[in-house]
Amino acid sequence: MSDNLSQMRFQTAYEGKPSWDLGRPQKPFVEIADQIAGVVLDAGCGTGDNALFFARRGQSVVGIDFVEFPIMEARRKAEELGVAAEFLQMDALKLARLDRQFDSVIDCGLFHVLSDADRRAYVTALTHVTKLSGKLFLMCFSDQEPVGPGPRRIRQDEIRAAFAEGWTVESITATHL
Ligand SMILES: C[S@@+](CC[C@H](N)C(=O)[O-])C[C@H]1O[C@@H](n2cnc3c(N)ncnc32)[C@H](O)[C@@H]1O
Repeated sequence: MSDNLSQMRFQTAYEGKPSWDLGRPQKPFVEIADQIAGVVLDAGCGTGDNALFFARRGQSVVGIDFVEFPIMEARRKAEELGVAAEFLQMDALKLARLDRQFDSVIDCGLFHVLSDADRRAYVTALTHVTKLSGKLFLMCFSDQEPVGPGPRRIRQDEIRAAFAEGWTVESITATHL
């Protein structure tokens, strides 16, 4: 279970305007949209801009986040846009409870906020909800980002170690959030 402190920190962030909440999908996901096929899970979806981008392309999409406000906001946006997308308030570490499997999972900024222990639980949960033929598209801060405020900087070898069992790391590409 993610610690309450982390949840409260995000709750507080959503009382203002979080820096990551752009009001549009992140460009790196838009650029590889054709690879993000089939039924999509957006883990740590925030207010849903990435999830809604794929829903507007006609894909079946589920977005989950452990904070209530962004989930309500994502549902409001879906209604406003007139697109079908499912948004659920839940802990990403408990994704296995969904009892569903996805062709594509996107993670825009969730992995890099998790502690080492939570990271392990998250990858186990992802393994449950991703089809054997499925793909994970993960965007996180890298160690090429100078040390400073913001989430943890993640090295390539940490990604490879986290996904060493049951996953194949096909590529790791530098991009900008
Ligand atoms: C940096 S934000 C990115 C939000 C969204 N993906 C975006 O690009 O706008 C990280 C998100 O992950 C959510 N989150 C963090 N830990 C989580 C957890 N254990 N389970 C579910 N959501 C989590 C936060 O509430 C926050 O919305």
